[in-house]
Amino acid sequence: MSHSEIRFYYKNVTSEVIGDEHGISSEQFRGFAEKTSPLISRLNEERKNGKTPYRELPFNTTISQQVKELVAQLKSGCENLVVLGIGGSALGNIALQTALSPYMYNINDGYRIGPRLFVFDNVDPPQFFSFLEWLGDGLGKTIFNVISKSGRTSETAAQFMIIRQLLLDKLGPESLREHVVATTDAKQGTLRKIADDSKLQCLEVPDGVGGRFSVLSAVGLFGAAMCGIDIDSLLAGARDMDERVSCEDFYKNPAAINAAINYHFYNQGKKISVMMPYNYALKDLADWYRQLWAESLGKKEDLTGHNVYIGPTPVKALGTTDQHSQVQLYREGPNDKLFTFLQVENFDKDIKIGPAPDCAPELAFLAGKNLSMLLNSEKTATEFALLQDRRPCLSVIFPKVDAYAVGQFIYLFEVTTSIAGGLFNINPYDQPAVELGKEATFALMGRPDYEDLVRQIQPFIEVDENFLI
Ligand code: PA5
Repeated sequence: MSHSEIRFYYKNVTSEVIGDEHGISSEQFRGFAEKTSPLISRLNEERKNGKTPYRELPFNTTISQQVKELVAQLKSGCENLVVLGIGGSALGNIALQTALSPYMYNINDGYRIGPRLFVFDNVDPPQFFSFLEWLGDGLGKTIFNVISKSGRTSETAAQFMIIRQLLLDKLGPESLREHVVATTDAKQGTLRKIADDSKLQCLEVPDGVGGRFSVLSAVGLFGAAMCGIDIDSLLAGARDMDERVSCEDFYKNPAAINAAINYHFYNQGKKISVMMPYNYALKDLADWYRQLWAESLGKKEDLTGHNVYIGPTPVKALGTTDQHSQVQLYREGPNDKLFTFLQVENFDKDIKIGPAPDCAPELAFLAGKNLSMLLNSEKTATEFALLQDRRPCLSVIFPKVDAYAVGQFIYLFEVTTSIAGGLFNINPYDQPAVELGKEATFALMGRPDYEDLVRQIQPFIEVDENFLI
């Protein structure tokens, strides 16, 4: 097991680097420490009182044991693992797979040490149709992991109902138990009812852990372990980060410093937070972060019930791809963004660039260099360019991308979110604004008792021909 720590670098947000107008002074940092330190203590206290159960996930050996037992039972003979879920029930699975399995994992059988993994977090008809068509007779070698804490999410329910019927039609009633794993609440909800009724194999979404904080529970661990990801190292990384982010000395706590910097820049008009990994493997961790940050911090009311309409807007970008798409805006557009780069020091695979063609000696400077050198030089170059325009930049530095580092990253940003919630004085664990859209979907899909809502929706959906061109 690797024990290399990820590090958090924040000099490039200081006034020393980007000047007084945009940068943070030492005095301001002292103010941050004063404001944030009591929040660290408060969170530690809340955690002791069981109010933030996600904090205990890395220490929960019962969950990892259950996951390993089920994996041992199902893995041999499983060619395809299909995750059906959305939001917090999907993004963690996608992020772990992209980060920790080789890029061609699903395609190159030589790489696979488990089933192919497909995560469906949408209800896109051509996409799902195409997948089921490809799957064909492979159904018998496929496990469907349906993940829904509430069980009432229309997208996941619809996907499940499609594959349930397919299994019943093609493989018979016994196949549900053999081919479906339900990950849901231990006691309540529609999926729990179905799982009990059909005697499905089950894993639990722990009590009090919301979807976006659940990746280190069975929600993320089962898919990861099925695909050969080292979940013990993942949890060890999170546990080691727990010590760092529980530290009540502000200057030694990367979650506290990260949260305070983000809070400060939000209040200074930099309301957009761009996460830009310089490694394809880390790309979907930025997507996972985008949900974590948006659903947790985008809130109408503060804890006293006042309307505050608060929340930084998370944006994901990928280096170097988005240098050729976004950096023009990032440098010359409004100075309203905070950048967080994810940088990797050592890649486990590298490629040397070949010699320049004789007719193009101007490319000789690249010849013989490693691609990793080019990628990391581009990160440094982009950061340098942004700093010239006084744009604040943070970096999370991965010594290498392995399960231990990814576990640290996940936990760092989860606790950063909790501390940022404290600074914004909002509840980071709910998502009340998502409900109305869910209810309106029920109404439009004809669910009984939603007739009033259908009447409210009607004026908004009737097409006014005067505005249709
Ligand atoms: O973070 C969250 O709580 C949400 O994104 C949920 O994960 C998402 O809405 C899916 O909910 P459920 O797991 O109940 O189907």
